[in-house]
Order: sequence, then C-alpha cells, then structure tokens
Amino acid sequence: MKIQDKILELKKKKNAIILVHNYQIGEVQDIADLLGDSLDLSRKAQSTTADIIVFCGVHFMAEIAKILSPERMVLLPDVNAGCPLADMADPEELAKLKASHPNAVVVAYVNTSAQIKAQADICCTSANAINVINQIEEGKEIIFVPDQWLGAYAAKKTGRKLILWPGFCPTHMKIIPEVIDKKRKEHPEACVILHPECREDSLALADEIFGTGGMLNYVKKSSKREFIIGTETGIIYRLKKENPEKEFYPAQDMAICPNMKLTTLEKVLWSLEEEAYKIQVSKEIAQRASVAIEKMLAIK
Ligand code: 13P
Repeated sequence: MKIQDKILELKKKKNAIILVHNYQIGEVQDIADLLGDSLDLSRKAQSTTADIIVFCGVHFMAEIAKILSPERMVLLPDVNAGCPLADMADPEELAKLKASHPNAVVVAYVNTSAQIKAQADICCTSANAINVINQIEEGKEIIFVPDQWLGAYAAKKTGRKLILWPGFCPTHMKIIPEVIDKKRKEHPEACVILHPECREDSLALADEIFGTGGMLNYVKKSSKREFIIGTETGIIYRLKKENPEKEFYPAQDMAICPNMKLTTLEKVLWSLEEEAYKIQVSKEIAQRASVAIEKMLAIK
C-alpha cells in the first residue's frame, strides 16, 4: 500500500484533517485537505469539525490551531519544526518594552509564541498587516513584534509610526538586492514578487509585494508569463502546479527554510499512527492569546 493511501485511510478512521503551509515539500502539499498561507490555515483551524488536526508547517502555526480549537488534538509531525523569527521575541523583553510604552497597542505577527500573543492586543499575518494597523485608532502608539521588515513595510504603507522589534526571518534575509538584480538580468521580462519579510532594500526592487496567499492569487490573474519569486522556494511547487503555462524562478535559490523542510510523508503517517507530537498550550496563556488571534480573524 502506498504511503499516501495509508495516510488517507488513517485520516478517515481518526476523523483527522491535514493542514499544509505553502512552503512544505511537494508530496506533503499533495496530501493536504487545505493548502494555504498562515491566515487561511488559521481560519480553517477555527472552523473545522475534525477531531485531529495534523499541522504540516512550523510550531507557531500548530499552536494557533490549538489555541483556536482547544478541544481538538493538534499534531506537529516533527517536534523540531520551529521558527527562528518567532524565537527572536522574548516575552520578558516585550513586557519591558510595553512597560516603557504603557498606552501602546501591541501588534504581534503570527510568527510568535503563544506567550507573546498573550501580551498582544491583536495579531496579524503578512496578508492582513496593513488592514490590522489601519483599524488602530489614529494617534495611538503601536509596538510591532517581531519582524522589523514586515513592520517597516506596513509602516510605510499605512503612514503610521511603529515601534519595531529587531527580529527577522533568516530565510528571507538571504534574498538580498544583489541576487534580485542578477535574476532580473537573466530574466528581463519577469515580474519580481517579494514577500514583505524581505529586507527594505530588497523590497525597493520588487514589482509586487505579497504574502504567500497574495502571490498565488496575483500570479493566477496576471497576464504575465514569467515570475521571479522572492520567498521560501517551497511555494514554487504550487505555483507551477496551478499555472503550468507560466515560468517561475526563485529570487534566491538558497531561500530554503530548514524547519519547513522537516515534514515528510513518513512523519505525517507516524504522526497519525502515534498521535504525536501533541501541541499543548496552558489554559491561561491560550485564553489570552486567543483574544488577539480572534480579533485579527474578525477583520475581513
Ligand atoms: P504567509 O502567511 O505569507 O504564508 O507567511 C508565512 C511565513 O511564515 C513566512 O515566513
């Protein structure tokens, strides 16, 4: 029996759902019940009636699913699939920053731990950061944690002044202006689309800036034929599959997130068989974090 069929059979038996982020390896993308960006996956985790959610992504994503669906079992197939950007925000340091700006609204990018979300007023993803900031009362101080580049981009787009945390995604940091220039020279007709986690000097070279969901939508509707994609390279599998007539080039061949690549079909099967690794969030933290996440999800 093929591993995919074993997963399907066990998934049915246990009433499980498989949620997969756009950066996962192709064969894991192919077994998804829902393949999407951080926002799509959070919404699905909130609305599912499955008993078990197998989350093929990284820890903070599975943690959001658990916070939104505390009565369900949420499994992460590889316990080591973390996020260095999320680890850059330390809850004690944030508490200190908040104490020095007592009236500030805290916006936490979803790439944070539940402890950080528990201290935030509202969360955001790359898809809705601008909307989230725009609905904050004019004149309020805003702390944005932890991605400085997404924060700087959102500040520019909204005209609001944000207090930025010095965090960054090591994978997106590799997408430097030099490699973008080089790819543009190789493919002069291509449209350059970058993720807002890229550095500001790289974003200045983009034709378009979107999170992964926005990239997929834009490419589908675009009449252009060639695209240079500046984000984790796993998304190119889906872009090619959904747009076989178009060409995609990674802006940076080395933009590979080692954590996103830890999930394999074997690990998904073992995860379902052994019901591991179970995500746990303390009740007190989950309750506080859910307020910030649900506030974000209420924004259309
Ligand atoms: P998206 O929400 O754009 O899918 O981004 C997820 C992410 O973690 C980027 O590093």
